[in-house]
Parts: sequence; C-alpha cells; structure tokens
Amino acid sequence: MSNNKFFKTNNPGVFVESPGRINLIGEHTDYNHGFVMPTAIDKKIYFELRKNDTPTACTIYSKTFNTRLNFDLRIIEKSSSTWENYILGVVNELQKSGKKLEGFDCYIKSELPIGAGISSSAALECGLASGLNKLFELNLSKQEIVNLSQAAENNFVGSQCGIMDQYASVMSTKDHLILLDCLSLEAEFIPANFKSCKILLINSKISHSIADGEYNTRRKECESGLKIIRDQNEEVETLRDVTLELLDSCKSQLSEKQYHRVLYVLQENKRVLEAANFMRSGNLQSFGKLMYQSHYGLRNLYEVSCKELDFLVKFSEEKDFIYGSRMMGGGFGGCTINLIEEEDIADFTEEVAIAYKNEFNIIPEMITVVPGEGTLVKGGKNKKVRSGKLEYREKSEKDKYPENEQPK
Ligand code: GLA
Repeated sequence: MSNNKFFKTNNPGVFVESPGRINLIGEHTDYNHGFVMPTAIDKKIYFELRKNDTPTACTIYSKTFNTRLNFDLRIIEKSSSTWENYILGVVNELQKSGKKLEGFDCYIKSELPIGAGISSSAALECGLASGLNKLFELNLSKQEIVNLSQAAENNFVGSQCGIMDQYASVMSTKDHLILLDCLSLEAEFIPANFKSCKILLINSKISHSIADGEYNTRRKECESGLKIIRDQNEEVETLRDVTLELLDSCKSQLSEKQYHRVLYVLQENKRVLEAANFMRSGNLQSFGKLMYQSHYGLRNLYEVSCKELDFLVKFSEEKDFIYGSRMMGGGFGGCTINLIEEEDIADFTEEVAIAYKNEFNIIPEMITVVPGEGTLVKGGKNKKVRSGKLEYREKSEKDKYPENEQPK
C-alpha cells in the first residue's frame, strides 16, 4: 500500500524522520542517574500524518507490519500488540497533559530492525509525538517530547526505561556524540572523530524485548541496593553519590547481586567520562579498550549479555583493526557495536558471518551506521522531506487516487 492510497483527505501532511540510536558506552546507567554516550543514526522511521476531518477517529498504518490500528481518541486502551502500545501510549500521555487532539491518520514506514537494540521503540514514540506536535500546533519543546515519550513507555508499555533513547533520537546533532548527564540532563556534544574507522553493528538476530522482566529487575536491584547504602549514609541521594570505598564498606549488607549491579554502574560511569576524554583527544585505541571493559561488566556483573553477543565480541577482540566492541542497549540479544577500520569491514563481515553461522546456525545482519541528526519535522503543502522517502506534493484529486478508488 502506498501512502497516497492510504490517505483519504487532501489535508496538508506533516512529515517526520525519526532516527534510531547507537550508544558508544554507558549502558544501564541512564536510569541510575549516570552518564551515557549515545547518538542518533542515519537509519530511521518515516511518518506522514494528516488531519482526517473527524473529531476523534484515528487510523495508523504500519508498512513494516502491514497492519492498521484504528482507535478513538476518547477510548485509549492497552493493546496486546507492543507496537500499538507505543502509539497509544504517546496519544495517552498527550491527552493526559491536557493537549487537544482531533482525528488524524498516520502512515509509518521503518528501516530500523526491531528488537535489535537500536531503539526502534523510542524512534516510534518520539516521531509520533513530534508529528502530532506539529500537526496540532501543541507547542511542545524538544525536551517535553523526550519526556512524554519516555513516560509513554514507562506508563503504557510497562518498560521502566531511562531517558537515553528518547533523548538521543530527538536531540542529536549530525556527526556528534552526546555525553549526557542523566542526573542534570546537561549534554555536551562531542565531535565523533572516528578517523579512518566506522561504526559497524552486528545484529545477533537474537530478539530482545526490554519490556520483558529482566530489564525492570535490574532496575529494581539497583534501587534496592541504593536504598541499603542510603540507609547507612544520609548524604547519598543517587548512585552518583556512591564511591567505590562507600560501596565496599556496605558490601556485607548487600546481596551479591546488588553489590555486582552497583559496582558495575560505578565502574561504567567512570568509563564513560574517561571515554569522553579519549574521544576528545582522538585516542581511539584507548576508547575502544573501554568498550571491551564495558562489555565484560555487562556480561559478568550486570548479567545482561548472552552467548551469541559474547561470541561476537570475542571474535572482534581477536582483530587488531577493531578497537572496541561490546553489546549495545538493554541486552539479552540485539547488536554488538564495533569500532572498526573501514578498509577491513568487507573481509571481516564475511569472516564473522561464517563463524557465527557455524556456531549458532544464524546469519547475522551487518549494519554500518553514521552519527546522524535528531528528529526532523516538516509540514505543509508542497513540502518535501530531505530524504525524499515519504515525500508529499500537492496533487490533483485524480492523481491522488487509483482509478478504481476515485472519491465520489
Ligand atoms: C534500553 C533503554 C535505555 C537504557 C538501555 C541500556 O535501551 O530504553 O533507557 O537503559 O536499555 O543502557
């Protein structure tokens, strides 16, 4: 189905390009008030939205799933399908905050693999929120779009995710990494100086879903660990106030799991700040070593890796043209992120694909990405989006509908 067949009105369209994200380092630190280093990528979800001249009827068409979601703005109920809940969650948060919507239709087309840890969910939430913001002139700031998209995921989908994915999807600037302090939300945009290297993602094709319990369990383990430390030390508010010495002095009161989770977070925060220095000074070798250490922490202390991801990271580690590799995102599957010399990508991807297939009988997916711009929104008649993927130009009624679907 083309988007022109889908829309039944000639109202002006709003076009949104909403990117996925990578995270160089700083995993599971966002909801622990720590540091992260993500950026948006050049792979996106594309939206076209139009008002449909009804007060409350909405239709969303997903080309990826080839399905339609019909709903009424007055009755927003949880669906059994996850992608629908991202949509409904955003609409719900907007209406909860008093924003006035009317009936609209939306056509969505994605080039982001799902469950690969590159945050197709945040791209979906933030893209829709940005589109509705423009369509209904809601006057939301970018930060408000980030916050309400995260709230949609927390409250409606039920995943207690942090703010990293939504922040990166909306706020990124091209060719930069964001060093984000998730406590103060201060951000520094560091030039992504990868020199002769590129970022290669290897999709293990093990599909994760952070809505599954493990993600929320990790979050609870950190919170309960923090509470025990706080009970002994009044000045501690978040894990940012906890030093390694303080953690060790509380070790006997913590379960082994709580100790390991908190230890990982403290170490990872330190790594992110060190990595930022190495990126600023262009020391990719040292930057990459921190990526490997991050992976070991995620595997051994935070326990969110899996054998397929470990295999891919180990394979990379044996290559001197790969400076760093680690699992990326929530874990339990998805992609590894690799900092690799560009000239070696072709041979390496062939070699690792064969080895991975031999080991797991799965063909991995290779995705090279570049740091891209955050959400782009365009609207109105005769406007064209930059990529031209979902362009809309005013057409005559006759052009717009196929012969057998001409409006009466
Ligand atoms: C998911 C969440 C993020 C973050 C990462 C792990 O992507 O949505 O908020 O916690 O996992 O770093």
